Amino acid sequence: MMNRQLICFFLAVMAYLPASFAVKPDSVYIFAYGTEKSNYHTGLHFAWSIDRKTWNAIGPEHSYLKCDYGRWGSQKKMYAPFLFQDPKGKWHCVWGLNETDGAMGYASSDDLVYWGRQSYPLLVTGDQVLRPEIRLSGSGAAGGGAAGSGMKVIWASASGNVFESYTPDLRQYASPERIRNFTSARETVRVSGEEQTGTVHRVPRSLLEDLLDARKIAEAKSARNNERLAMNKEVFKEPVSVTIRTDKNNQKAISDMLIGIFFEDINYAADGGLYAELVQNRDFEYALSDKEGNDKSWNSYKSWAAGSHDVSFTIDSLRPVHPNNRHYARLQVKKQGGGLVNEGFDGITLREGEKYDFSVFARSPEAKRGGLKIRLTGTSGEVYGEAVTGKLSRNWQKITAVITAATTVNGARLEVVPLQTGIVELDMISLFPQKTFKGRKNGLRADLAQSIADLKPRFVRFPGGCVAHGDGIGNMYRWENTIGPPEARKPMRNLWGYHQTGGLGYFEYFQFCEDIGAVPVPVVAAGVPCQNSAHHGCALGGQQGGIPMEHMDEYVQSVLNLIEYANGDARSEWGSKRAAAGHPEPFGLKYLGVGNEDLITDIFEERFMLIFNAVKEKYPEITVIGTVGPFNEGTDYVEGWKLAGKAKIPVVDEHYYQTPGWFLNNQDFYDMYDRSGSKVYLGEYAAHIPGRHNNIETALSEALHLVNVERNADVVTMTSYAPLLAKEGHTQWSPDLIYFNNSEVRPTVGYYVQKLFGENSGTVYVPSFLKGNHDRRKVAVSFVEDEDYLMIKLVNLLPVPVASAVDLSEMQITEGPALLSVLQGELDDRAAKPRESTLSVAKDLKYQLPAYSFSVIKIKKI
Ligand code: AHR
Repeated sequence: MMNRQLICFFLAVMAYLPASFAVKPDSVYIFAYGTEKSNYHTGLHFAWSIDRKTWNAIGPEHSYLKCDYGRWGSQKKMYAPFLFQDPKGKWHCVWGLNETDGAMGYASSDDLVYWGRQSYPLLVTGDQVLRPEIRLSGSGAAGGGAAGSGMKVIWASASGNVFESYTPDLRQYASPERIRNFTSARETVRVSGEEQTGTVHRVPRSLLEDLLDARKIAEAKSARNNERLAMNKEVFKEPVSVTIRTDKNNQKAISDMLIGIFFEDINYAADGGLYAELVQNRDFEYALSDKEGNDKSWNSYKSWAAGSHDVSFTIDSLRPVHPNNRHYARLQVKKQGGGLVNEGFDGITLREGEKYDFSVFARSPEAKRGGLKIRLTGTSGEVYGEAVTGKLSRNWQKITAVITAATTVNGARLEVVPLQTGIVELDMISLFPQKTFKGRKNGLRADLAQSIADLKPRFVRFPGGCVAHGDGIGNMYRWENTIGPPEARKPMRNLWGYHQTGGLGYFEYFQFCEDIGAVPVPVVAAGVPCQNSAHHGCALGGQQGGIPMEHMDEYVQSVLNLIEYANGDARSEWGSKRAAAGHPEPFGLKYLGVGNEDLITDIFEERFMLIFNAVKEKYPEITVIGTVGPFNEGTDYVEGWKLAGKAKIPVVDEHYYQTPGWFLNNQDFYDMYDRSGSKVYLGEYAAHIPGRHNNIETALSEALHLVNVERNADVVTMTSYAPLLAKEGHTQWSPDLIYFNNSEVRPTVGYYVQKLFGENSGTVYVPSFLKGNHDRRKVAVSFVEDEDYLMIKLVNLLPVPVASAVDLSEMQITEGPALLSVLQGELDDRAAKPRESTLSVAKDLKYQLPAYSFSVIKIKKI
């Protein structure tokens, strides 16, 4: 009996001893490997062993490092990662990228958990890098080697050749030399019953524990992120109530620029959308390359047809209207009566009694001098309006006409009928409603533009998004190509898979900002293309190739020219172009974004800094906005913020599309931001749920986040939901804020959240205390003031009403009626709109927050 008691006592003591007294080895083995699973997308994994025989997978197959090379989906693969520790203890990982490129992937780490910037050195041309390995080279090995010096990379190619290349630092590489063979340092072990090939390393046990912890943290985060807002009402046994008290003594000034918009030509947002042009492929510049050859009908003929057998047409490019716009239609008219027909963007929508401006560049090479009949017709030949132009001449001439629509109709077509036989050449065939937004020529669709203006955005970001930096350097948005007469603009492939005329270009953008009282925030590429560009590395200017340094001066000058175009004197080189377009006064540009969620690499930093320094020197009054990658964590975020601190970038652009669970569980995200560092422009965000639609659940998640951002609007100075617009039937990204077709505009539930914030922005934030008998995360409040109003925003994420008692005794408010706006619905409600009413307000305000709701109370100040 005594013995049994002793044993129990001993076991109990053992259980309470600190872990370090337990019988665990000081060092263990880890095995680093990758698999072919998910087409090589799962990255670098670890397994561990104490005897080098039995291996335990971590995760299993938790990813510690993922490749960022090339496009999401088809690329970003990691073949055969190879892990190497240099004599100073730093870890280096190299891997193959694909079966075609002569580049490899490289990243390094101090702890195997946080991995720094990636690079993709081009080691060989005309061959591939498969299964790269690192070795200490002779000198480095002999000398003990400073970290990173005296190394070499050895690899095989698909054809079986073996190469090695010396490198002092795993950044620069000597020309590769062919070698006869090499002995691989990889081993094959069994992990979870499967054979895997990788590298084995003996490491302190604490390193393994850090790896295990990293995986546990990732799992815990993922569980929190997956939390949804749906709750069972039945769990609430008693009414939910809160008391709220303001803390006026601690009020602070906040940004007056908080709510803005993100405009990108995605989802047909510009051509076929906000840009009011009704003719599709007006310039005959549609090209197979717009869709990377995937749609054989997407060419200069797209949207056009001959209207009768007596007319045929071909596409020519011998004598273009302008070299930027080479293609035009060459009609052969055998008999008068038929012409060229355009189907518009899903048809043309006409409104009865409204006037439409038609224009075309036309010529009659045989000088037959007929005019043109312009008709708006239905598919069965109905004529909704027509006009006849003046006569054509031998040379290109712009010809115009005005047509009045006899009826309101969708699906009309435009016919251009030569009133002569023989050859007629036509280009830039255009039709605009005269009723554009503010009646601007070459203007914007009035109803869509108005829905944007109604958000009361303080700024407009343009032209993206990925469109700003393009799919490879040849596809970067070049602002100069989008100004001047439309026929001289340079159209291009839109990386979302269609054609971009540049008709809604930089002039129209600046003009729109002025028309809605918003500040322009243009974003230029930081000299590198989109992180989602096709691969091809440095050599071909694909992802992370970057503009060659010898061309960077030219590029930097182009960025400076943009500022001169916006703000320069009307007699300056670029200011005069603005004046020629009808705007001699400057547009008052104050902000310039440089880069868009780029991979933060050495190639990026080198180019970003050139642009940043040049702008700072020539235009110190311009606030440059840097970029910190596509996520709210990870390498680009960390490295981007490090660069922001080092270079003292005034503002950085954060992007994250997150789940309701993330917004719910990260309400303190900005509370811990350094107030003395760079400010934040939250340039792209939205709540995403499976199915990627917009509903009350996503809208309330966004409202919650904005309430938390308002509390931090001394550091987060600007925000913009993304993307803004999407045309039904042409959507590449969901959800979006405003959906539309040719005749209707359909704002989403999320739109109303943005609108309520836009209409109720303040310049002063008043902190408050909220107490209640509920899940504290699910009721949120924010008090902001401007000169005239106190605005209280209340978010209720509970399925039951919440009775609030708000102590306003320290606020200078007018007691009596106040404006109450409430957005409320079931979580999957996709059509809810705010309801407005009057609420009687006193210093001891009582207000019941409806279940699942966002309320705004706007109270006049004394
Ligand atoms: O908003 C849609 C896209 O999301 C943007 O173009 C890009 O910046 C981000 O990845």
